[in-house]
Amino acid sequence: MNDDTLTIAVSKGRILKEAAPLLAHAGIELRDDPDTTRKLILDTSEPDVKVVIIRATDVPTYVQYGAADVGVAGKDVLMEHGGEGLYEPLDLGIARCRLMVAGRPGAVPGHRRLRVATKYIESTRRYYADQGRQVELIKLYGSMELAPLVGLADLIVDLVDTGNTLRANGLEPLEHIADISSRLIVNKAAMKMKHDRITDFITRLREAVKAREAA
Ligand code: ATP
Ligand code: PRP
Repeated sequence: MNDDTLTIAVSKGRILKEAAPLLAHAGIELRDDPDTTRKLILDTSEPDVKVVIIRATDVPTYVQYGAADVGVAGKDVLMEHGGEGLYEPLDLGIARCRLMVAGRPGAVPGHRRLRVATKYIESTRRYYADQGRQVELIKLYGSMELAPLVGLADLIVDLVDTGNTLRANGLEPLEHIADISSRLIVNKAAMKMKHDRITDFITRLREAVKAREAA
């Protein structure tokens, strides 16, 4: 992207839905309807501000490499990514949930090492290592709740909001790992090269977050 453009990376779905009103409050309205357009680079009310639509897990990568100047990413995704090359100046307070260990009620470890299925391998490894507990990790890409039901794993580590998904599958939350919300992330080089632009954007977004929390 050229030097005069501010590029914002956002994932479709819940993050874009919750971030769009904050961006609008900061003076950046989407010109395309994200629900219907097939475009991946969206125009906004500001000609030199673009929104790029990417997978949630890819947002930190685009920002790390400077393909987007800033982005909105869940703390869960940032914890997995590691945060290299990124600043994380603002908690947007959207897409709130918890990263938790879950399993069948009363599930007790048998004779073998506990098996934990998750897409959050790094966070899970760190969580158990910090407690000196040895577990076997199984990497999944989705539908984690199925794993304990079919004997793939004893436990899962996944996001919990209402708890409905766990309940619907006969599972319960067992241990809290982290509170999750979406953060504004900024490419470190862009922060230097486009300093005034980005600090102004952060200030406007911070005001939008405050207004939303006061409402
Ligand atoms: P990908 O497309 O990369 O697999 P995803 O399907 O997890 O990502 P979303 O479901 O849109 O994408 O989730 C995006 C972010 O929203 C997550 O990284 C997390 O921070 C947050 N999130 C996920 N599930 C919930 C939930 N049930 N309630 C609140 N926030 C959530
Ligand atoms: C997330 C997460 C859980 C679920 C938790 O999945 O992986 O499965 O939400 O939310 P709950 O505690 O409110 O049930 P995903 O984003 O795929 O589910 P969703 O689209 O149904 O929110």
